[in-house]
This record gives sequence, structure tokens and C-alpha cells, in this order.
Amino acid sequence: MKAREIQEKFLHFFAEHDHLIVPQISLVPENDPTLLFTSAGMVAFKPYFLGLEKPPHPRLVNIQRCLRTTDIDRVGQNARTLSFFEMLGSWSIGDYFKEEAISLAWRFLTEVLDFAPDKLWATYFASDSEYPQIPPDQESAGFWQAVGMDRGHIVGLGHKDNFWRAGNVGPCGPSTEVYLDRGRSFGCGKKNCRPGCDCDRFLEIWNAGVFMQYNQTLKGEYEPLPFNSVDTGAGLERLAMVLQKKDSVFATDLFAPLIDKITSLSKPVNGQVKNEARLVNLIADHVRASTFLIADDVLPANQEQGYILRRLIRRAIDAGDKISLIGLEGLASTVVEGYQFAYPYLFDKKKRIEEVLSDEEERYRKAISRGRKEIDLVIKAGPAQTKTKITDPVIGTGSGSKRIISGKEVFYFTQTFGLPPELVKEEFRKRGLVLSKMIDREFVAAQKEHQQKSRSDKKFRGGLANDSGRVVAYHTATHLLHQALRQVLGDHVRQTGSNITSKRLRFDFTHSQALTEEEKAKIEKIINQQIEADLPVSFEEMPLSRAQKKGALAFFADRYQQDEVRVYKIGDFSKEVCGGPHLKRIGKMGRFSIIKEQSVGSGKRRIYGILI
Ligand code: ALA
Repeated sequence: MKAREIQEKFLHFFAEHDHLIVPQISLVPENDPTLLFTSAGMVAFKPYFLGLEKPPHPRLVNIQRCLRTTDIDRVGQNARTLSFFEMLGSWSIGDYFKEEAISLAWRFLTEVLDFAPDKLWATYFASDSEYPQIPPDQESAGFWQAVGMDRGHIVGLGHKDNFWRAGNVGPCGPSTEVYLDRGRSFGCGKKNCRPGCDCDRFLEIWNAGVFMQYNQTLKGEYEPLPFNSVDTGAGLERLAMVLQKKDSVFATDLFAPLIDKITSLSKPVNGQVKNEARLVNLIADHVRASTFLIADDVLPANQEQGYILRRLIRRAIDAGDKISLIGLEGLASTVVEGYQFAYPYLFDKKKRIEEVLSDEEERYRKAISRGRKEIDLVIKAGPAQTKTKITDPVIGTGSGSKRIISGKEVFYFTQTFGLPPELVKEEFRKRGLVLSKMIDREFVAAQKEHQQKSRSDKKFRGGLANDSGRVVAYHTATHLLHQALRQVLGDHVRQTGSNITSKRLRFDFTHSQALTEEEKAKIEKIINQQIEADLPVSFEEMPLSRAQKKGALAFFADRYQQDEVRVYKIGDFSKEVCGGPHLKRIGKMGRFSIIKEQSVGSGKRRIYGILI
């Protein structure tokens, strides 16, 4: 069964069971500072689970492009770890719960995809002594038995395997997962080998239901959600692998053309390179992920999303060098060709994707030679001097003549020159320096510290793309628009999203009808009156609860630090919780005008506005 057929069957089955097919979102989620990437289909629906927004329909289904960064280092090392993948997802938002979710999953797997029932196993959340507040989910075990699963195939596991959330905060709950028994020949042979075992015999094919019951707060507490929901997800590549009877996701029809192209563009080096197939698989995964990231407007950079893209491209280049691959940009067109039917926008961006890949390759080659020179300088300068040269992290720990290179130093070079840690370590090693025994752990600690810092910077910036003057003006104008909309349309208007560039603002809000010309004119007039009055902008810091009591708008309350928020006031016209930055006065921002107003799903509208 071709991968696209699996998708069609999935959408069709759930649509037949009254699920609304909804479009997918970008790999970079908007207005969600808790996540770098869309890591699951549910990311788009968090406000629904939290009861902050009403879904267009209580049952939803879609295919979502996803990126997971936690496993990037393992890509290529096994048959099924990927960074980018497509997720088949279905949802009940406050509608059906465990029984129907399990019954739908069973019917889809056994009746539509024709899996033999005796090859299927299920896991459920049994209990976990570290999480005494979460009760065991015996109900799911009972429902699996009721649909016809062998009693001995239903396995209770703990929090690590059967509790799910995207990232560290947000809607979450116990889950139930379906595993396929691939047969003894894949197994470890142990008597108690079953789902949860490390060997390859049991393969998870579907997270058949995260039973969303809690909202995990920043403090790690589990608050009950206003209603129960179901979130399911299955990786398309894995389903294709088992349905196409392949041993690896890279052998499915989703990857075959790309793997062929990589092999044809690399020089045969049989016998000289260890693990050639692994390198080819790594390149295939990373190039596919990079193609989709660039198409979603991510550019290589030294932090956040751009850093991940840079890492993917540079790791692919390193792997490519080992098999004498000629250029990555030639591979992007194969990805585009394979995916443009399902993702037509890729076709328009093809040239851009190729340019970004070749520019980054050039930059990387330069960075490598600069990085090597810098490493030489650092070594020549010796421990004492390098401390002053590079203030943080401190280079050259260790004593006397024996220099020990720490993971923090390696991290510094990966950050500053965009070099992969392996290359940095190798360069130090080649020059005769000793690497710390804890180097990997130190590296991860430095990386975490850095991530935390940039995350809080981002929160402070309120998720702005850049802080140029125009962007700041548009950010301030967004507050004016929000307040004007409420005055003209009513208090039901709530901001659901915002995206600002230096050329325009885009504002999403709850409202059920198209705006009339008269309403639009009124909104523009109110905003321009405030601008003409040159109102001052001021802010005060206070706990969120006090800000809300004072009537400040705070629609992303769960995303702010609760103890200290900024309340921005524009004269007496608008009062809103926000991270800033803003103009000091608004008189010179220009005249505001609405250039487009449209629907973005039921009950939601979008306005594009400019300042001229
Ligand atoms: N969101 C759940 C997952 O990704 C279904 O496993």
C-alpha cells in the first residue's frame, strides 16, 4: 500500500465517522513560546483542549507535518528514527472519550488496514509511583478487551511510556498505544519480551489515544481540564514501513527516490566507508526536513529554529563529505517532486530552498576553516590568556601543561562557528589535547543553559521576529486594533493569533461574520484618532492576577510568568498584558489601514493591516 493511500484511507475513515478534515499548520507554531516546532498534530489545537477557543467541529482529523528535535542524533543509527515526519491525527474535543477512541482505532487497523488482530498489542497507563496523583487507566484495558484484543496482549506501563504532552507544559493525559508484533525473528528472545522491551520485535504503530484530562503548569502541577478530549497520532512513515513489509522507513516509497538520488550522486566508496547506508539515510532525513523547514520560512541561524535547520544541513554536509556526495541542493528537487502533490507550495519555493542550501554550504565551509584557525589560536594562547579572550565559557580549564577540554568549550565552538560537536572534539583531539571524561554531559548542560536563556529572551520579546522600529510600531498598532475591534464588534472579540513583519500586521480574532465596510471604516477611524492624539505608551509590572483584576486584556494568560507580567497602557485607550517592546508615543507611527479581512476557520477572522 502506497503511503498516500494510507493517508487517504485514514482521512476517509475518520471523515466517515463525522470527523472534520482540517488543514495543517506550519512547522513553526505561531503564538506558542513553549515549542520551537510543531511536534504533533495536537499543537494546533491546544487552545481547544484548554477550553480557550471553540473548535470548528468537536471531531477533527488531519495530516500534520511535524519535526522532533530530541532524536536528531539518533537519525541514521536505526531503522525508524526521523526528525521530520507526517502524523496522521484524529481528535475528539470534549466529545467521545476512551471507549469510542479505542473502538475507532481497532476498526481502522483491523478492517481498513487489515492488520491481523492477533499481531496487535496495546499498552495503557497502569500506575507510576512517582506520579501518585494520576490514577491507573484500567478502563482502557477493559475497552481493548471488549473490541476483541487478546487479554494477554494488553500491557500496563508507567508514566514514561503511557503519559503524553507536547513539550513541558500544556494539555496532557494518560495514553494508550498500539504495537505490532513483527515476529520472534526481530526479538531478543527473552521470555517476558513484550511492548516496552528495548528490542525490535514490538513496534509502536499508533498512539491511539492521549486521554487529555490535565493541563500541566509551569510548576509541574496537573490541573484538571474543563472537559475530556482525545488526541491520537500515528507516524505515516512507520505505518508505510510495516504495510509495505520493509525493514526500515528509509526503504518505503516515501524515501526511495531520494535514497536513489543520494546514491547516484555519491561516488562509490565500497569497503572504504563504514556504515555507508546509515550516512545515506541520515542525509535523506536531514535534507527532507531542511526542505520543509525552508519552505516554512525558517533560515539557518545560530539560535532557535534556525539553529536546528543549520544543524540539520551541516550534519548532512558532514555525512555527504564522507561518501563524496556532490552538493545538497540537487537533492531538494527530488524531495519537492515527491511531495508537491500533497504540499503544492513546495513547488513555488523550490528555487529558494536550493539557494538556501547552497548558501549555507558555502558559509559552513568558510566557518570550518575559520573555526580551525580559532582553535589553533586558543591552543597557542594557552589557558591563562584564553580566559580573557573568551569570557564565557572559560576556555582552558585544567592545570599546568595538561589542558582538558570541557563540554562547555565544545559548545562554545558549536555556537560561535556553527561547527558540529564531533568535528570540534576531533580538532582538539588532533592537536593533542585531552577531552574531559564528562564532555558529553557538560555539553548538554551548556546547551540547556543556553536554551533556557534564549527561551526567556523570546518570552520577553513577545515572540517578535525582529525588533526593528517598524516591527515595534506594528506591535503597538496591534494593541490599538485589538481594542478598536472590541469597541466596534463587541467584547466577544479575543485575540487568537498575531504575526508581525516590518511591512504589515496580521491579527486573528474570534468573531463569526465577515466585517462590513462600515465596521472596517469605523475601526480604522478609532485607531487613527488615537494616533492623532499621540497617546503615550507606558507599562507597569505586576502579578498576572492583579493585572486581570484591573481589567487588562490577557488572552494568553497561561503563557505568561504568573508572578510578574507587564501591563502596557496606550493612554487610557488600551490596557493589555504583553512582553513589549512598544513605541513610547504613537503619534508618528503612520495612518492605519485594513488591507484585507478574511475567515480563518469557523468563528475566526483575520485582518491584515498596514501603517502608511
Ligand atoms: N500527540 C500524540 C503523540 O504525538 C498523539 O503521540
